[in-house]
Amino acid sequence: MKRSNLQIRGFSKLSKSAKITWLTEQHLSNPEQGQALIASYDHADEAVQKRHDEFIENTVANYYLPLGVAPNFLINGQVYTVPMAIEESSVVAAAAKSAQFWMDRGGFVSTVLSTTKIGHIHFTFTGDASALTTLVARIQPELLAATEGITANMRTRGGGILSIELKDRRTAMDDYFQLEVRFETRDSMGANFINSCLEEMAKVLRLEAATDAGTASGDLEVVMCILSNYTPECIVRSEVRCALEDLDDGSGVDVHEFARKFQRAVRIAEVEPYRAATHNKGIMNGIDAVVLATGNDFRAVEAACHTYASRDGQYRSLTHCSVDNGEFRFWIEVPLSLGTVGGLTKLHPLVQLALEALGNPGAEELMGIIAASGLAQNFAALRALTTTGIQKGHMKMHLLNILNQLEATDAEKAELTAFFADKVPHHAEVVAAFCRLRGIPVPAAEGVAR
Ligand code: MEV
Repeated sequence: MKRSNLQIRGFSKLSKSAKITWLTEQHLSNPEQGQALIASYDHADEAVQKRHDEFIENTVANYYLPLGVAPNFLINGQVYTVPMAIEESSVVAAAAKSAQFWMDRGGFVSTVLSTTKIGHIHFTFTGDASALTTLVARIQPELLAATEGITANMRTRGGGILSIELKDRRTAMDDYFQLEVRFETRDSMGANFINSCLEEMAKVLRLEAATDAGTASGDLEVVMCILSNYTPECIVRSEVRCALEDLDDGSGVDVHEFARKFQRAVRIAEVEPYRAATHNKGIMNGIDAVVLATGNDFRAVEAACHTYASRDGQYRSLTHCSVDNGEFRFWIEVPLSLGTVGGLTKLHPLVQLALEALGNPGAEELMGIIAASGLAQNFAALRALTTTGIQKGHMKMHLLNILNQLEATDAEKAELTAFFADKVPHHAEVVAAFCRLRGIPVPAAEGVAR
């Protein structure tokens, strides 16, 4: 591989094809092959390709992820086919299985508890704190007036600025104050809206503080204006419940034993951070996949959920379970800041398709769908973990990946899938069975198939 000239200035100014040439020639052992691969991922419609190229800077290729769907999600009495963009093989299957299970038991009930988002002007002030308090109370109309142009549309949709509050944070850091601003952003995620409002308000704050008799002697420095991705006031709850006897899925499990062990597994994730991280990771499998498919910001959602999971000082499970009076209840409470307008929603054709398949929900409806998807995913994982073990289902889905790596034909895939139907398909055993089927020697490193 050539690695002669890896530094470059002005890369972003190059054309897309020049970027691809530079990347492949400087970094790949076979530049032509790399260029052909990149070209093979191009969209046939030039306009669509251009749109994708312009989502980010320095685009060189499209990067595919599968878009799957999990049908039969009954949520608040309505059936949804939930789109999921994810690479992990067992996630969609698990969601679909849970959705079907709960469809037959009344479905999911999702409730949006609140939709408020928060942003901050983080600033330092060295003067008289009580004069600052008086100033912030006095200039509220000016702060709102400064954002009128930005909030006009949002206000017609029932959103806008809900409150502006001075927070004295000097016990955390010398001279540190915040203007904490609450927003309602309706169907948009609102990041740009919130940041724009904060920046306009910061100008007013700076100016007023410099000219106010009480505060002018102190030094006020705005450090930054930014929304918070922690959204504990933008919360949704989703729940399933049924009589203990109805947990019977025909597999012969003892429902009392199942519920007891399941509840214990949730409790472990409530008290043990090592387990909580994995438990919540499984929940995020279900949440992120729908967040991504619907063009939302999964990093923001991840940040919010994990901060929420540690809100009392210890990282804990996002789901909870109770078994009382013969009833099994399982629920999730998560902060989900989502948009169904703006951002990628009008730009990415598959995001539009995903939203249309969901019936073009508003942000609150989408919060309910995504919370249910996270709960479904966690139900599937805990059900497997506390009964058969996780590897059976995981490896079953993984079988196809192994067979694809081996470049098995469709007929070979069908035969080997049937062969492994009642076995856990460990990699070595799949390779061995594949070689036997093809009549070729089993590589020494792969060991012996059972
Ligand atoms: C794997 O992606 C997710 C699980 O580990 C989640 C869990 O353990 O609950 C199966």
